[in-house]
Amino acid sequence: MRLNNTPNQRVVGARIAALEGGEDSYVAASGMSAITATLCTLLGEGDHLLIERGCYGGTDALARHTLPRMGIEVDFFDADTPSQDWPVRDNTKVVYAEAIANPTLRVIDHERLVTFARARGLTTVVDNTFATPVFFRPLELGYDLVLHSATKYLNGHSDLVAGVVIGPEETLRRVRSVANHLGGCLDPGACFLLERGLKTLPLRVRYQAGTAQALAELLEAHPLVSRVHYPGLPSHPHHRRASKTPRAPTTPEATPGDPTTRAKSATVRSWSTRGTRS
Ligand SMILES: Cc1ncc(COP(=O)(O)O)c(C=O)c1O
Repeated sequence: MRLNNTPNQRVVGARIAALEGGEDSYVAASGMSAITATLCTLLGEGDHLLIERGCYGGTDALARHTLPRMGIEVDFFDADTPSQDWPVRDNTKVVYAEAIANPTLRVIDHERLVTFARARGLTTVVDNTFATPVFFRPLELGYDLVLHSATKYLNGHSDLVAGVVIGPEETLRRVRSVANHLGGCLDPGACFLLERGLKTLPLRVRYQAGTAQALAELLEAHPLVSRVHYPGLPSHPHHRRASKTPRAPTTPEATPGDPTTRAKSATVRSWSTRGTRS
């Protein structure tokens, strides 16, 4: 036994690959570990990364602070602007996005992004943590690689930290090799727990989505809540797009300056997203 080759890492990885409809996978010690191993595999000194503005904070910080120190150039793009405005360059190698962004729950036009990247021979990577393969299977749309923080919905029991990347066998062989150099490794006990969590994935996330929708509607009608960011609501700018894709946790916003509202909102937020966010 060495890094990243225990039998239950392989078994749970194969199950997640099947859920996403991918050839192979690498289960990692955390979502960030999966993201780091993937980007360090696909990008090297002098390469350019195009990443959607407003991704999860850890990913954003990796792109903003760490990758540039490795000689990797990074630009952020606003997926709601025309694609001719996206700052693609001759050395661009990877386009990175989130299926449903954390925490704004923005849902971009994934088809447009994939078409844009394919026309330029760029590798596409999407973080599918918030959508899960129950609601969205990005490889079917043409994404090259799919990532997850398995800490959230894939496990669903709030008792482990894990990550996974799914994609073609050849790319995954390279990701595993870089991950071995970086040294992170998912504990075999955590693999067992993750596999247990997967068994209830469709039941859990469908139920959670129903609860989130009801909660979002209730909050939107509440006089002390100024705005609710939930793509299941017709008031969300990406509602039509999201109805083709998924539902996700609600992010209510308190009326500024009202301590009562702030307290209420905070309570609701931690309840509605319990087990889904670190
Ligand atoms: C969308 C998304 N991706 C990646 C991560 C990082 O995952 P982990 O905490 O498992 O490293 C998070 C964590 O909140 C997340 O929300």
